[in-house]
Amino acid sequence: MGIVGAGPAGLLLSHLLHLEGIESVVLESRSRDYVEHRVRAGVLEHGVTELLVASGVGERLRAEGLVHHGIELRFDRERHRVPLSDLADGRSITVYGQQEVVKDLIAARLATGGAVLFDAACTGVDTSSPSTATIAYRVDGRDEVLECDMVAGCDGFHGVTRAAAPAGTLRALDHTHPFAWLGILASVAPSTDELVYCRHERGFAMHSMRSHEVSRLYLQVGPEEDVAEWPDDRIWEELATRFTTSDGWALESGPVTEKGITAMKSFVVEPMQWRRVFLAGDSAHIVPPTGAKGMNLAVADVRTLAAALTAWFRTGDEARLSSYSDDCLRRVWRAQEFSTYMTTMLHPLAGDDFGAALALSRLRYATSSLAASRSLAENYVDLAGL
Ligand code: FAD
Ligand code: DHB
Repeated sequence: MGIVGAGPAGLLLSHLLHLEGIESVVLESRSRDYVEHRVRAGVLEHGVTELLVASGVGERLRAEGLVHHGIELRFDRERHRVPLSDLADGRSITVYGQQEVVKDLIAARLATGGAVLFDAACTGVDTSSPSTATIAYRVDGRDEVLECDMVAGCDGFHGVTRAAAPAGTLRALDHTHPFAWLGILASVAPSTDELVYCRHERGFAMHSMRSHEVSRLYLQVGPEEDVAEWPDDRIWEELATRFTTSDGWALESGPVTEKGITAMKSFVVEPMQWRRVFLAGDSAHIVPPTGAKGMNLAVADVRTLAAALTAWFRTGDEARLSSYSDDCLRRVWRAQEFSTYMTTMLHPLAGDDFGAALALSRLRYATSSLAASRSLAENYVDLAGL
């Protein structure tokens, strides 16, 4: 099995296949150090945490992950708690950085002799043969090829696997949102016990965390914003303004250790498969981050793919491989809808007073109706349905 990309999707697929006795080679264009320190998502759904624990890579996650039973929606300077666990049959989320999941998976693969090749960039995928697939890659200045039964394209949105599909095979649907997120990591204890999603007329703000000593915060900014325009003082001032409440809640600031801007995009490619190639994670779909679904969807895809490949390698049964794309896309579209709901409800758009009034009505409904808050909770806590 050839796997392109050592993000959460590629690494977990390799690990799950290994547990079933199926060997794979993972090709990663970046260095091990780079992928282990790339700061991205932080919220694991209930079923995703259970899967990581059950597959033997959850020891540090259990010890260091922060289990949360609720989130806060903040608007009109008021705080509203959504009691996720009460609303979603006791299930919870775990706050644990994506790069920690990546570190745990790399350690597990390497400890069992797994082949994860870093600094090995895939340059093309050839699926013209009916019985095999070939991945071309470049490592140490040499061009190499990997012959395999099947290829998993886990190489993210900017990867090369998706582009190898013959013309007309795939249909791409996308939507670009007219704003971006400026994200920081800061060495300061979180000012909140639970995640805060805040709508303010100056823009969305969010307070997350990575530990009891490290905070993760986000600000809605313009789509073309330059991070150089945002010195630390300006970021803290803007965060404090947007997070202001009528009850005197205060934001603690501290040294910023990481800063970056992420564009916001919605994207789906259909189907997620052709010939012997299966796309998983960001190579097949991107959601805006407001619902915290990107990494969770990547995990859900490869769980479905690992089960389908296991059936095929063991017995030659193609049924689950044939339904892989449909099985995933049902979940992907649910996540797209939920992420769009959260995004439009929480991000103001300049000049859109009608949209702002609708969004406030939605927020009031989400925090006052049992049916609406239950719906939000079940999507937030366990949309992947693992
Ligand atoms: P990736 O993690 O992107 O992994 C793909 C891997 O493939 C990478 O390691 C890449 O180096 C490698 N690769 C690419 N091209 C090649 C090639 N040619 N050959 C070999 N390897 C290749 N989601 C949230 O839920 N919350 C967030 O706050 C959040 N923040 C994000 C911030 C940023 C900057 C980005 C880009 C994404 C963010 N996401 C967030 C989304 C989430 O991180 C992704 O959904 C998740 O990383 C998907 O995992 P993946 O394994 O599919 O892809
Ligand atoms: C984080 C990111 C998100 O997009 C989100 O919705 C919740 C938390 C985070 O990085 O911690």
